[in-house]
Amino acid sequence: MKLASNPKLTVVGAGPGDADLITLKAVKALQNAAVILYDALVNKELLEYAEGAEQIYVGKRKGCYAYQQEQINQLIVHRALTKGHVVRLKGGDPFIFGRGAEEMEYAAGYGVEVAMVPGISSSLAVPAYQNIPLTKRGSAESFWVITGTTKSHNISNDVALAAKSTATVVILMGMSKLSKIMELFKEEGKQDLPVAIIQNGTTEDEKIGVGTVNTIEQVVAENDLSNPAIIVLGEVVNHRYRLHTICVQAANNSLKVAV
Ligand SMILES: C[S@@+](CC[C@H](N)C(=O)[O-])C[C@H]1O[C@@H](n2cnc3c(N)ncnc32)[C@H](O)[C@@H]1O
Repeated sequence: MKLASNPKLTVVGAGPGDADLITLKAVKALQNAAVILYDALVNKELLEYAEGAEQIYVGKRKGCYAYQQEQINQLIVHRALTKGHVVRLKGGDPFIFGRGAEEMEYAAGYGVEVAMVPGISSSLAVPAYQNIPLTKRGSAESFWVITGTTKSHNISNDVALAAKSTATVVILMGMSKLSKIMELFKEEGKQDLPVAIIQNGTTEDEKIGVGTVNTIEQVVAENDLSNPAIIVLGEVVNHRYRLHTICVQAANNSLKVAV
């Protein structure tokens, strides 16, 4: 087997879905790749930056994993050692619930040079595209980003802690635990706290449902919301309505001035 002289892994954040939300550094990494391994939530348009590269899909197919994590790790090392520069393209930011760190550790253990290009995480960008600021003076002084489902498939204990705080709470991979999450907030007396659920955020298929801790499950059923989705809990959710109202009022006022 002929070995590459410069085995390298670059773990690259693809951003949350909108192809324009990739960084210039990520585009340069794609252009310099010999092999790309990409996930399900990556916008396929981005692969056009890597025309000459071998492109391997390693995400989920019809709910099943095309590759297990161990196989992905081995594939990265094999391709780096035989072909040179491997780009591991991951949705959002690879270090936010993305297993990018694990893949870098594994490759480094085989003497592969490793690098990381951060991406715009869905946890920030998906609410932002819906005019939901995660912090806003007077509404929220901090935010938590939590996984709804842990390695052991249970709800993270951090959700109960976050429910006690005044922070904006952003939950990824939480749709299968929605009832339990809302229960934890109800236990803290937060029945009326605003909640937004955004599916396929920043893409053409984006869908949103807005309600409160008490009503959001009904909203989800009515709007048929499912994965991939982000749950945002906090007063900041109301900002999108406030902004909308201001825009409508301003438009009405300017109409009156024009008349
Ligand atoms: C394994 S995590 C990866 C997160 C990613 N590393 C990031 O920073 O965005 C996948 C989860 O992120 C959320 N997610 C990712 N992209 C999304 C999008 N465009 N719209 C809504 N949720 C998204 C969903 O909760 C999904 O189940």
